[in-house]
Amino acid sequence: MIFRQLFDSTSGTYTYLIASRQGGEALIIDPVLEKVDRYLQLVRELDLKLVKAVDTHLHADHITGLGALRDRTHCITVMGEQTAADVVSMRVAEGDRVSIEGLNLDVLYTPGHTDDSYSFLTGGRVFTGDTLLIRGTGRTDFQNGDPRQQYDSIFNKLLKLPDDTLVYPAHDYKGDTVSTIGEERRFNPRLKVGSVDEYVDLMNNLNLPNPKMMDVAVPANIHVGLHQDEIAAKGWAVSAVEAMALSGRADVAIVDLREKAEREKHGAIPGALHAPYPELRENIGIGGMLHELALATGKRIVFYCAFGERSAMAVEAAQAAGLISACHIEGGIDAWKKANGPLVRHDTERQT
Ligand SMILES: [Fe+2]
Repeated sequence: MIFRQLFDSTSGTYTYLIASRQGGEALIIDPVLEKVDRYLQLVRELDLKLVKAVDTHLHADHITGLGALRDRTHCITVMGEQTAADVVSMRVAEGDRVSIEGLNLDVLYTPGHTDDSYSFLTGGRVFTGDTLLIRGTGRTDFQNGDPRQQYDSIFNKLLKLPDDTLVYPAHDYKGDTVSTIGEERRFNPRLKVGSVDEYVDLMNNLNLPNPKMMDVAVPANIHVGLHQDEIAAKGWAVSAVEAMALSGRADVAIVDLREKAEREKHGAIPGALHAPYPELRENIGIGGMLHELALATGKRIVFYCAFGERSAMAVEAAQAAGLISACHIEGGIDAWKKANGPLVRHDTERQT
């Protein structure tokens, strides 16, 4: 496994780059905008392909690198389903998995610092965001923070992990880089409370000033989504309602770019082909499945995904590859569901 811990000294943020092997897919956790060049250089040096960028929560102290990384690598952005961020490619919840080649991250919902705080567990390491810090815990006094929820997240979820699980937080201001669950249980001063009420009292009386960057970082991090209106202005988008009229037509192929687990969990558009986003380049290139389909049958390719972000990137790539009738469903299956579009579940799904 390739594992790198990177530090932004301005905000005290740790960013993690993970991959299963040299030459393989990589994932980044909590990237900082100003450090994006550095991350991409490292990705190249280690011969990796960045495919996912994850934020543990909506940050208040720095601008996320998610949008810039997506724009420069076409990677998939990932956050929790509660996030206030306008659009990310994939929203995850407790029990989901974030997967790349050779690696799975188990998703743990650990609210309290914010209501969209998640932790990610893989191979004896847990990335705790600002829920559990080294000898500390994340503040709970803004962005729908809640000390009672944080107590529950820490005591009933994170501290239930094996003692030797390595703890990698999103921040440290003292120079510590890693801890373990056992160490934090024994030595974290914030966790030396007798009850949840005592913890709530402690957290409610910290009287911390707001982060310096808060007024800039929070609005910027909310508006992280790709500008789907620019795709629509080029005539490359249809609304969910328009897509319903196209669905089932002989001259249209609706193409689902999501992962198998997303299709199983959220349902799919009836009759849609499945062509996962990571394989897009091969599929739209000469000799690729979608290239041949469009060419041989003259069908119009209509991409969709979860929220329209992957499909917007797919349209741009398909248009560049010469599939000039390609478009996407703006807002993805989320918009389709809101428009009461029909769904099939995987177990009854027609194999196409
Ligand atoms: Fe935070």
